[in-house]
Amino acid sequence: MKAKFSSKIGLIAATVGSAVGLGNVWRFPAEVQENGGAAFLLVYVLCVIVLGIPVMLSEFSLGRAGGSDAVGTFKILSPKRPWWLTGVIGLVASYLILCFYMVVAGWTLEYTVQSVTGELYKPVEGMDLQGSFASHMQDYIEGSYSPLIFTYIMIALNLAILVGGVSKGIERISNLLMPLLFLLLLIFCCVSLSLPGASKGLSYFFNPDFSKITPKVIINALGQAFFSLSLGMGILITYAAYYPKGADLRKTAFTVSALDLLVAVLMGIIIFPAVLSFGLEGESLRGITLVFVTLPEVFNNMSLTCLWSSLFFITLSVAAITSTISISEVSIAFLQDRFKMSRKKACMLVLGSCAVFSTLCSLSLTRGSSLVICGMPLFDFLDTVATNILLPVCSLFICIYAGWIAPRGLMISQLTNDGTLKGSLCGFILFCIKYVAPPAILIILISPYL
Ligand code: PHE
Repeated sequence: MKAKFSSKIGLIAATVGSAVGLGNVWRFPAEVQENGGAAFLLVYVLCVIVLGIPVMLSEFSLGRAGGSDAVGTFKILSPKRPWWLTGVIGLVASYLILCFYMVVAGWTLEYTVQSVTGELYKPVEGMDLQGSFASHMQDYIEGSYSPLIFTYIMIALNLAILVGGVSKGIERISNLLMPLLFLLLLIFCCVSLSLPGASKGLSYFFNPDFSKITPKVIINALGQAFFSLSLGMGILITYAAYYPKGADLRKTAFTVSALDLLVAVLMGIIIFPAVLSFGLEGESLRGITLVFVTLPEVFNNMSLTCLWSSLFFITLSVAAITSTISISEVSIAFLQDRFKMSRKKACMLVLGSCAVFSTLCSLSLTRGSSLVICGMPLFDFLDTVATNILLPVCSLFICIYAGWIAPRGLMISQLTNDGTLKGSLCGFILFCIKYVAPPAILIILISPYL
């Protein structure tokens, strides 16, 4: 018997846990900053509604109808055709993402520990404050083996949760951690809003300047929406197979997308006032700099530095772990369903091999490393290939399959639970899946080459 989530709250907590991750915390504010502030937010919200939710519903419907892993679902629904290759693309993307994401998850854990012990806020001799955090991060990533230890601890935590299974492992931990995450975010919002000059940050984030909306802004917003909602990675197909028959897919998709959006907006409310209050807006918020350099600077300017810093990195670790378990589950379900492996063995194999590849990813960032592919450290190479190529390709095929190829009536019967629910919005959703999403995704895919 296929494992199932045991409650509605549990399935939403697990799915939101997957969607809310480091993508919301560092990728979103960085994208806002790079793409014209509030204008980006506006386009992003539109992308979530018109594309994110319909594509999410395609994955949910296929996953629940197939009742199998990301590859098996297509084999069951269209046994004689090679559509299962779509699942293979999602599986590969999810595995590659897992390997480098686990390294970043390890950093969040180590920064938590260093915040608790105060180590992070000991200045480096002969450095000004700002340089000290940047050099701390650089030395940490480039010059030492200690990130490996924390990556392994993160992998061990994932293993412990995943071996517990779907309802006793994933669901239980999500039920516990997601409320904690929201509570921590709300605390940070209050702190950030009480800083002097907070209104400057808020107006930057919420007052759109429409002239800033360019094709590049739209393309970046689309890419961010897909990444943030965990689309095209096989995760939602895998999770939907654990949804019980009575679950309302439309309600679930709206709730998950709304909560994911809420976390992104809360992060904006936290970060922009804080960064602008302390005059750090000239700094790039790009990627790891924001979380591991700029924010420690912000905390250093506040009283109770170590407390805020510890709470913040705990928040990040929680967001990271509920995402890593979901992305590991794609490969675990694949091994269990396709190769009839026991859950324990599948977990060991996926996370054991992840330990090897994560080690390589982490080492590729050390000084003078020869783990370079196409001129990029292995870490960046996996990120680029998975995020920029495999995710959009997988999502594109999912939409084409759900909209045009899947057995007739499958989408409608999944969306309405075989006609027991009203069909409101189904027409709009199917229209987006068939006609809007495929060309839009194609544009994201080819835009870097235009
Ligand atoms: N939605 C996730 C995020 O924003 C994407 C993701 C899921 C990445 C699972 C890795 C693992 O971080």
